[in-house]
Amino acid sequence: MAGTTHAHWSSRWAFIMAAVGSAVGLGNIWKFPYEANAGGGGAFVLVYLAFVFLIGTPLLVAELSLGRRGQSSPIRSMEKIAKEEGRTNWWSLVGWSGVIGSFIVISFYSIVGGWTLSYVVEAVTGGMTGITKDAAEAHFNDMVTDPINPLIWHAVFMAITVGIVLRGVEGGLEKAVTVLMPALFVLLVGLVVYSGVTGDFSAAVNFLFAPDWSKMNADVALNALGQSFFSLSLALGSIMVYGSYLTKDVKIGKAAVTIAGADSAVAIMAGLAIFPIVFQFGLTVGKEEGLVFMTLPIAFGQMTGGAVIGTLFFGLLTVAAITSSISLLEPSVSYLEETDKLDRKKATFLIGTAAFLLGSLSSLGFGVLSDVTIFGKSIIGFKSYITNNLMMPLAGMFMAIFIGWFISRKNIMDELAMEDRWFRVWYFMIKFVCPIAILIVFYNIVFGF
Ligand code: TRP
Repeated sequence: MAGTTHAHWSSRWAFIMAAVGSAVGLGNIWKFPYEANAGGGGAFVLVYLAFVFLIGTPLLVAELSLGRRGQSSPIRSMEKIAKEEGRTNWWSLVGWSGVIGSFIVISFYSIVGGWTLSYVVEAVTGGMTGITKDAAEAHFNDMVTDPINPLIWHAVFMAITVGIVLRGVEGGLEKAVTVLMPALFVLLVGLVVYSGVTGDFSAAVNFLFAPDWSKMNADVALNALGQSFFSLSLALGSIMVYGSYLTKDVKIGKAAVTIAGADSAVAIMAGLAIFPIVFQFGLTVGKEEGLVFMTLPIAFGQMTGGAVIGTLFFGLLTVAAITSSISLLEPSVSYLEETDKLDRKKATFLIGTAAFLLGSLSSLGFGVLSDVTIFGKSIIGFKSYITNNLMMPLAGMFMAIFIGWFISRKNIMDELAMEDRWFRVWYFMIKFVCPIAILIVFYNIVFGF
């Protein structure tokens, strides 16, 4: 079977780039700034960082270690480990939730990925020059409600993702991330420096780091936790399948801290690239998806060299989205590949096409299908609700419970090979803090309001 020759990263560096590539995405550059804005800036940022390091990082260690021990797709990894530990096969549901959840997420992630691609072209062709606020808003609305155009970009984005994933772990994923991630980093640093020099940097720093606690409430805290999970790519199989390609010599604890640190750094740098421009131009920060797609083009349209900066910015966003989308396709591809009914190429085509079709519904949901609601939500809203608010917290909680209470402590110690005192801290977090914190948040999401 294909699983006997399970692939591996060629180096620790390649793995770190891939995992950081998965984590750093639209979540950091598109979502984080507007969530921070909605949550009152600094207060949100501090709570967010606390969640990333206290809950997200221990879970990252947990998910990576399950993957590495299982050396298979998330479904089979969970099955195998449950069996080895003499536990019920029901634990494989955690793997199923990951494979299905990541498939649902890629279907709509790719829509936004398509938007970013279309904005690269818009910026290159000077389409943003001199654009007014009304025109920028109208442009965005016209784009997302159009029945055809966003689907074409969605298809292009999905094709790029498929093109990388079908080449396999070393030849596809690894090659792409080791080129794209350093490029992304250079672009981002360049943009932060540019914003710092030309924009209102101190207003941005103030906004991002001076907490206004009056805006903090349970709702905002929930958003911060959800955002930390999403940003770290937790609990939907991406991290588990990347862990399955790890060799035993990589220290998972250290790797997780590096990944979480890099992911947070990019989120904050994205804020430092975006807000100085927003404040400099006296733009009111747009709500929701508007910040990046409606507000920034106005600034790019006014500044000297705006076409270049705009192109670089949307290029950066696209690169970040691609290195994440490949990790969203991989869990289901690895599962199909493992069943031995399909080779990797066919499996990737199949999943990519299915995700494209499912995603098209979300795209049409902005326009011709805007009357269609599922439990009172738009199509994309519904998909994001079940993945973000149900599957992610539940799978995360059960992963922590599984490791904390149903696997022998010795086996985990062997797997992680952590220094004793760090292991104790981590074990305490996984056993008690993570499940309880997630339970509280989950209860509030589902029954609280
Ligand atoms: N973390 C990515 C982002 O911030 C998105 C992502 C990739 C993801 N894989 C995931 C989110 C798995 C949840 C689960 O854009």
